[in-house]
Amino acid sequence: MFLTEHAAPRLVTTGLAFVTILLALSVGLGARNTGPKQPIENFSHRIHAGVNQIECLHCHAGTGRSQLAGVPAVSVCMGCHQYMTASLEKPGVKQLFEYWEKKEPIPWARVYYLPQYAQFKHEAHIRAEIACQTCHGPVQEMDVISLNQPLQMNWCINCHKNTAGAAKIASAPTDCTTCHY
Ligand code: HEC
Ligand code: HEC
Ligand code: HEC
Ligand code: HEC
Ligand code: HEC
Repeated sequence: MFLTEHAAPRLVTTGLAFVTILLALSVGLGARNTGPKQPIENFSHRIHAGVNQIECLHCHAGTGRSQLAGVPAVSVCMGCHQYMTASLEKPGVKQLFEYWEKKEPIPWARVYYLPQYAQFKHEAHIRAEIACQTCHGPVQEMDVISLNQPLQMNWCINCHKNTAGAAKIASAPTDCTTCHY
């Protein structure tokens, strides 16, 4: 199509308006809708780790000790919610009590995972004093956890080659068998 001098700026304006709408939509959806749907309504890292400043390791106790960070058992949730009578009527808290009464684990949807053939260990990274947020983003500000970056091999290797962010250790191994065995 042939654009006249007058039509071109109007198209540009329409294009900008469209981009603005897209931006507004993505901001409007906010942190809540970007991750997978989780089984407990309104379970929020912002409320727990942000507003109430509960330590990551209170719920992810495995991170420092083992390969898996793990999600907390229902009993960890109940350690607080059993005594929090004021929030018993919240729908998410009711769901939590249902799992507790059924003695069933909560089927949380995984967000971060690697293919089987790649090995990752939290332990080594925590020892190197790399903050959770370096890899998972500002979790304490997220209602719903979403993937913070693409988890590609280059990301791992780039940091292993240049571990400026890691306080304790000058370099991390980059031979293939570090992560593939
Ligand atoms: C260390 C204490 C503590 C632990 C452990 C804990 N919570 Fe909470 N939870 C809180 C506090 C504090 C609030 C905010 C006050 C409120 O809602 O009454 C809260 C709020 C909530 C809410 C209400 C959100 C809303 O406003 O609708 C849900 C749902 C919830 N927690 C689920 C869980 C689940 C599931 C677990 C386990 C994975 C868990 N909590 C572990 C302290 C805790
Ligand atoms: C009150 C307990 C609680 C606290 C405190 C908490 N988490 Fe979580 N975390 C959970 C639960 C439950 C899940 C699984 C549901 C979900 O993904 O939201 C989870 C999931 C995650 C995931 C995604 C795991 C996956 O599926 O791949 C990451 C990453 C994470 N938490 C990091 C953190 C960090 C970092 C902190 C501290 C800033 C933190 N969490 C504090 C309970 C907690
Ligand atoms: C160097 C990057 C890095 C750091 C630092 C890191 N994580 Fe992770 N995390 C990952 C990767 C990669 C995965 C996926 C692992 C897999 O699939 O084997 C993951 C997975 C998880 C999961 C999903 C469940 C599981 O057990 O694998 C949780 C929960 C989690 N991380 C929490 C944390 C918390 C809490 C911290 C800080 C104490 C932390 N992570 C620090 C990279 C990191
Ligand atoms: C932000 C920097 C950073 C990122 C990102 C990172 N690592 Fe690391 N990694 C380190 C440091 C630092 C160590 C500790 C090296 C040591 O203890 O000598 C380490 C250690 C390891 C180890 C243990 C090595 C050993 O033999 O002790 C494995 C396995 C590993 N990383 C895999 C991965 C994988 C897989 C990814 C990507 C999914 C990844 N890392 C992402 C910095 C990082
Ligand atoms: C620090 C950890 C780390 C090291 C070291 C590493 N890899 Fe990987 N590699 C990964 C991760 C994580 C993935 C999965 C994510 C992806 O596909 O990018 C992967 C994926 C791959 C894949 C599949 C890629 C694809 O597109 O399907 C191949 C092949 C591979 N690596 C080969 C190697 C070889 C060969 C070396 C040694 C020269 C090596 N890797 C060293 C972490 C590592």
